Amino acid sequence: MHIKMILEKLQFENKNKIPMHMPGHKRNLSLSGEATYLSKLAADCDITEIDGFDDLHDADGILKDSMKRASYLWSCEETHYLVNGSTVGILSGIYGATKPGDTILVARNCHKSVYHAIEVFGLNPIYFLPEIDELTGSCAEVSYETVEKLLFRYPEIKLVLITSPTYEGIVTDIEKIVSVAHQKNIPVMIDEAHGSHLGFGYQFPNNAIQMGADIVVHSLHKTLPSLTQTAAIHRNSNRISKERLQNAISIFETSSPSYLLLASIDGCVELMIREKEKLFLNWRNRLNSFKKRIEKMQNLVLLENEIKKNRQVLYDDSKIVISCKNTNLTGIELMELLRKKYHIELEMASIDYVVAMTGMGDTDVSMEKFAEALLEIDESCEKRNFEQKSFAQFTIPRKFMNIRDIALCNSGFVTLEKLCSENVSAEYIWAYPPGIPLIVPGEHFDDVLISNMIHYQKSGISLKSSTGRFPNEICVVELLKNDRI
Ligand SMILES: Cc1ncc(COP(=O)(O)O)c(C=O)c1O
Repeated sequence: MHIKMILEKLQFENKNKIPMHMPGHKRNLSLSGEATYLSKLAADCDITEIDGFDDLHDADGILKDSMKRASYLWSCEETHYLVNGSTVGILSGIYGATKPGDTILVARNCHKSVYHAIEVFGLNPIYFLPEIDELTGSCAEVSYETVEKLLFRYPEIKLVLITSPTYEGIVTDIEKIVSVAHQKNIPVMIDEAHGSHLGFGYQFPNNAIQMGADIVVHSLHKTLPSLTQTAAIHRNSNRISKERLQNAISIFETSSPSYLLLASIDGCVELMIREKEKLFLNWRNRLNSFKKRIEKMQNLVLLENEIKKNRQVLYDDSKIVISCKNTNLTGIELMELLRKKYHIELEMASIDYVVAMTGMGDTDVSMEKFAEALLEIDESCEKRNFEQKSFAQFTIPRKFMNIRDIALCNSGFVTLEKLCSENVSAEYIWAYPPGIPLIVPGEHFDDVLISNMIHYQKSGISLKSSTGRFPNEICVVELLKNDRI
């Protein structure tokens, strides 16, 4: 029997596929025509901190210089390179900005790493829902009024944490949020994992650093030309202690950072400094031509225009969100059709829409093939005019106990069919992507949430759970008879 090796699978199966997903380099080794750092990153550069090279945890040489250049590029106090993704940036940022037991204000559409930070550091979260985008059913921007009201109601809040842009490209205008938080000297942290390309013009919105956030996390690999796992955390004010942040990073980040990944970040930063005008202009022109090409679609809908028609919002149009709500296709079916017939791989499918990610690594040819495929599918699919595919409703489940107290409880398993509103979850359940938990340990299931999970499951959206037993079994707290429900 021939055992397929991972490298073989990577080299052959990916060869003729068009990547409309992260990472932003799109496996394009030349980007602007010439071979870049991306073509040189191989085992002959694979070291960690040996003599003569700098120590990421105590940078004083080539890494310090490179991170300084990055802080100029993003115009912030300081930038730290990360080789464990935004995940480690989020853990470090929250740890660096809080003390155990602190209360933090958290938009509920946060990535699971935020909940892990809350769990591990014993924080007291006050969750709130951002605005809900009616077209996708997903969480959208955070309203300033919501934050202002909650900061007034809970004066003990020590940190405000918001995700922007969302997976669907909606950007929160945080300027007023920052100003109301700063009046109380409360720092604002933005998970801008999907927005490291923002703030450089070319019709992309400003980034969170420009809008005054105190701490910002970027997954460079998602939207810029840098290898997977590369990220950065930017400290943008003295409301966050330099020393506490440095200490936090050294706790959570590997002690053997890969120089392949560091060279990739360095190369990406240099490319941005030297060639960003040309690269952004090419990206913008490709995006505009693509959008013009698909204007003819009759059944599939580019959601950007609809979202902007609905209300005033900042939008990152590097994300191409296509709704198939008025057709006989579900999001999963559309994604599969693009994969199987057109060899185009998307970033994500939801119940009635799909998300494609563009980047500097796209080419005119790949964008044209994507447009052609959408036009062909648009012509061949059937128009339907009913609402049955509508999305699941977002709710914040009722809290029964703190996430970290779950470790002190007995737990058992129930099936999805037997799950009821008396059950308290002992695990996280989330859809990946985007990795936003539907429920976190210590929260009650409720009827809306249970029917949402069944709806997702039936629609082919795969839900995952911490124990890995979903959908067969769900880990719940074993409550004693006199426990409060
Ligand atoms: C909003 C958001 N934040 C953080 C992360 C984690 O980023 P990384 O994969 O770089 O660790 C993700 C990953 O998908 C994300 O979508």
